[in-house]
Amino acid sequence: MCGIVAYVGPKDAAPILLEGLQRLEYRGYDSAGLAVVNAKSLKTRKVKGRVADLAAAVPAKFKGTSGIGHTRWATHGAPSDVNAHPHLDQEQRIAVVHNGIIENADELRRRLEGEGVKFESETDSEVLSQLIGRMVKETDSLREAVLRALKGVVGTYGIAVIDAQRPGEIVVARNGSPIVLGLGEKEMFAASDVAALIRYTRQVVHLEDGELAVIKADGFNTFTSDARETAKEPFTVDWDAGHYDNGGYEHYLLKEISEQPDTVARTLRGRIDDRFHIAHLGGLNMDARETRSFRRVKIIGCGSAYYSGQMGAQLIEELARIPADAEPASEFRYRSPVVEPDTLYVAISQSGETYDTLAAVQELKRKGGRVLGIVNTVGSAIARETDGGIYLHAGPEVSVASTKAFTSTAVAFALLALHLGRVRDLSPADGRRICEGLRRLPEQIKEILTLEDRIKELAKKYADSPGMMFVGRVRGYPVAREGAQKLKEISYVHAEAYPASELKHGPLALISPELPTVAIVPDDELLDKNLTTLGEIRARHGRILMVGHRTSEAADDCIVVPKNEVELDPILLTIPLQLFAYHAAVALERDVDRPRNLAKSVTVE
Ligand code: G6P
Repeated sequence: MCGIVAYVGPKDAAPILLEGLQRLEYRGYDSAGLAVVNAKSLKTRKVKGRVADLAAAVPAKFKGTSGIGHTRWATHGAPSDVNAHPHLDQEQRIAVVHNGIIENADELRRRLEGEGVKFESETDSEVLSQLIGRMVKETDSLREAVLRALKGVVGTYGIAVIDAQRPGEIVVARNGSPIVLGLGEKEMFAASDVAALIRYTRQVVHLEDGELAVIKADGFNTFTSDARETAKEPFTVDWDAGHYDNGGYEHYLLKEISEQPDTVARTLRGRIDDRFHIAHLGGLNMDARETRSFRRVKIIGCGSAYYSGQMGAQLIEELARIPADAEPASEFRYRSPVVEPDTLYVAISQSGETYDTLAAVQELKRKGGRVLGIVNTVGSAIARETDGGIYLHAGPEVSVASTKAFTSTAVAFALLALHLGRVRDLSPADGRRICEGLRRLPEQIKEILTLEDRIKELAKKYADSPGMMFVGRVRGYPVAREGAQKLKEISYVHAEAYPASELKHGPLALISPELPTVAIVPDDELLDKNLTTLGEIRARHGRILMVGHRTSEAADDCIVVPKNEVELDPILLTIPLQLFAYHAAVALERDVDRPRNLAKSVTVE
């Protein structure tokens, strides 16, 4: 979603802000802007387009040692120069960058307009700069002005505010949209994502919802919306700037796909116990008795996180024999869910900041639910709000479409399922089988990556289809869903996933030579049934790309991947589909890392 970056210190702010914005571009990117304070006045540049367009529009002499920057993903008002942030008050004294949505913006705007305030843009965000602009005249304190202005604001926000009269000071606030402070040597940063700070500092402080901070070159102080000071301990981020480089790959997506032998190994590291064939998951914060007490598992997440949750539900049912299911967090939070004491809730999020997932976690906690998080970003909001969980340790995922976080989440679920299973009825022999299977995954992923050239050819062959069907049964169904998701996200080819068993109950009507099918066909107890489905598609002249553990004459093309244990095979079967989507998108000349209309981390409703 939108990105915020702020700097105060001895250096020129503009180059630092531009660099930070570039790092945030993956979050949202239809316009960008920045403002710096210089000689008690504001200098601002805003453009529709990419950060590179903004950089080109910023003159060399754009001096000012404190400033704020923003990349926008339009919600209120079309992408345009004037709707881009920062927004100023009418006196041009205050500048604000805002992530989130102000729900009572219309009402506030009408009130301010009634008082004679002239608005420049169509955005909800401008009410913030205009409000703060009014308040700062009354109080002559930026901190006070922001506190007072926010009192009348309903909605979600992460904001950074500068005042032309106070060059060395920036006020930031968080409510539902992340803000993290970065502590430098006699300089301070703030951003919506550590990615923007990592080149300058790894010492960070996360703000909580309802918290504000004043940052100055020599430090910061934090306080609540009722002006009570809060004490915050900085922590060190274990990712460094190198993790954010594309590593010589043409796209981050390909880099992240290729990293999976390593990222999966990192998710597993130190977590397999060969003595008892169990998983060590210290972060769950649950003893064996408590772990045994759950009678149901409910998994929530959005997008690919939700599909990995479906894979997780299958793993938990099979290995732990506990009823488990996954649901989109975005739906779950709105249907007033029945929260049961003997249900274990698991929230999944790569970023740890997806608003729908966070809101669902908060709803669960409010109702007394026990919630675990499977999260990649250490210290993120979902990690902080959950009772315990599993960190993926997959490193930052930059490309919008999720790949390595997906496989690491599935691996984390395999560990959780093993853990839940081994305090119940999963035998030591089966525990051992799963532990050994998990250990084989990184090498097998390496083998799959060697198939890239062949997959690239196939992607080219199928990329110009008007649409594709993805089918799989039981364990293969989440694989099919994620495969279809990847293809549609980055290549814009329409892709639909169906349980193979459902084909004859409707979608078979679509099958024709123009609509190829990707069929997930593992060597498991459903192999024959899957091959029968291929026959049905074939009989309707449908073309078939089969992904499985063998070739079949029923298919036009086959991708054969190494075999693991049946429960773990879905993790491996996902990887050729990532490469397939990637190469289809490249063949169609799409903006692979930044697909249209999408953002990496959706921090608004
Ligand atoms: C967005 C992204 C998806 C991602 C989803 C969940 O919709 O475009 O790729 O799967 O958010 O993100 P999370 O950070 O919560 O895993």
